[in-house]
Amino acid sequence: MTETSGTTKDYIEREKRYLAYMYNPLPIVLNRNDGVWMWDTEGNKYLDFLGAYCSASFGHRNPRILKALTDQLEKMDVPARAFHTDKLGEFAEALCKFTGMDMVQPMNSGAEAVETGIKAARRWGYDVKKIPKDKARIIVCQGNFHGRTTMIVSFSSDEDYKRGFGPFDGGFDIIPYGDVEALKKAITPNTCAFLLEPIQGEGGILVPPEGYLREVQAVCKKNNVLLLLDEIQTGMGRTGKDFCFQYEIDRPDGLMLGKALGGGVYPVSAFLATREVMNVFQPGSHGSTFGGNPVASALGLESIRLLQEEKLSERSAELGAYLIKKLKALNSPFIGEVRGKGLLVGMEIDSQHATAREVCELLMHKGILSKETHDTVIRFSPPLTIEKKELDWTVERVAEVLREMEEEKASALPAVGKR
Ligand SMILES: Cc1ncc(COP(=O)(O)O)c(C=O)c1O
Repeated sequence: MTETSGTTKDYIEREKRYLAYMYNPLPIVLNRNDGVWMWDTEGNKYLDFLGAYCSASFGHRNPRILKALTDQLEKMDVPARAFHTDKLGEFAEALCKFTGMDMVQPMNSGAEAVETGIKAARRWGYDVKKIPKDKARIIVCQGNFHGRTTMIVSFSSDEDYKRGFGPFDGGFDIIPYGDVEALKKAITPNTCAFLLEPIQGEGGILVPPEGYLREVQAVCKKNNVLLLLDEIQTGMGRTGKDFCFQYEIDRPDGLMLGKALGGGVYPVSAFLATREVMNVFQPGSHGSTFGGNPVASALGLESIRLLQEEKLSERSAELGAYLIKKLKALNSPFIGEVRGKGLLVGMEIDSQHATAREVCELLMHKGILSKETHDTVIRFSPPLTIEKKELDWTVERVAEVLREMEEEKASALPAVGKR
């Protein structure tokens, strides 16, 4: 086996040689992190303003999360669900009480939680709503992102996610996001569920009009259609409430969680639902070897406790509003809209001037790690443990980058008399 020689270029070239080309990472090689900070192999320090796509909400290697992990590993690892374990019931009870849902099926990745919800909704459609065999349909939104399995990408509206992965079996109807009238029109007697994100994350941090979710819930109830909310990105305090749905409704019929539920160190996801929906499962109908194992349960439990005891949702609401206000006040011609809720913030870059990727690379050179979503939006989703002074520091760096870009653009223009 060849040794890694240790330069940034070597690490990157080795990845390029052996890894499927699916990501386009920023050109640094990280090897250490702590709290909101990360370091590369050259010793450069960066502020993490992406938060592992909303997974690292408690700060990297949070001591409480690490302790929960090591304490559990000293006792037991993964015996699988062939047996009962002492941690799973405690985790399930805590998660149900925290979300207000009745029952849970723990899984690992976010996509698996979504798949579980789709299975539950379809079976509920047949067994409870009495939809004719194989006719159940689920309504989804344009611009959705729910994961990468073949079934999930089959109802994506982004061709890049789908090309070459068909045939797709269908059963999904796509409507515009944020449009209640479109939902009313799309519902048929065979509709079993409406699946959506309360804020579209990958879609560009798109916040629907106020009242949307409330109206959606009313329409779903009236038509006996399940409301399934994917809070894999928006849940666990990210948007300034424990769950984003709490801004408008009591609870959905089904809820998907993931990302931060594993404390940022381990994949833990869950599909939660009302008892009526979850009762469609019997032994043999669904499962997961690792889902709900003692390590996952210990981490899920500690994540819930941390969020509650450290009041991180409130912190997210306050700091997110502060960040949005400060970014808007920059008043740069390079910035379009700044939007979001809590510490899930999207900054739109005017495509006439630059791409979001270019701005991310410039920010990286100033010590800030963020990532574009699509061509024009930069997602800011730092750990919820971030301090106000670190937000100030970041906004100053963003201002510097924008000022330098504006100056460069101005100097590239011909002198006035020659235009
Ligand atoms: C809203 C939403 N749903 C589902 C997923 C998929 O999660 P995972 O990558 O863990 O499968 C993501 C990931 O970004 C997401 O943002």
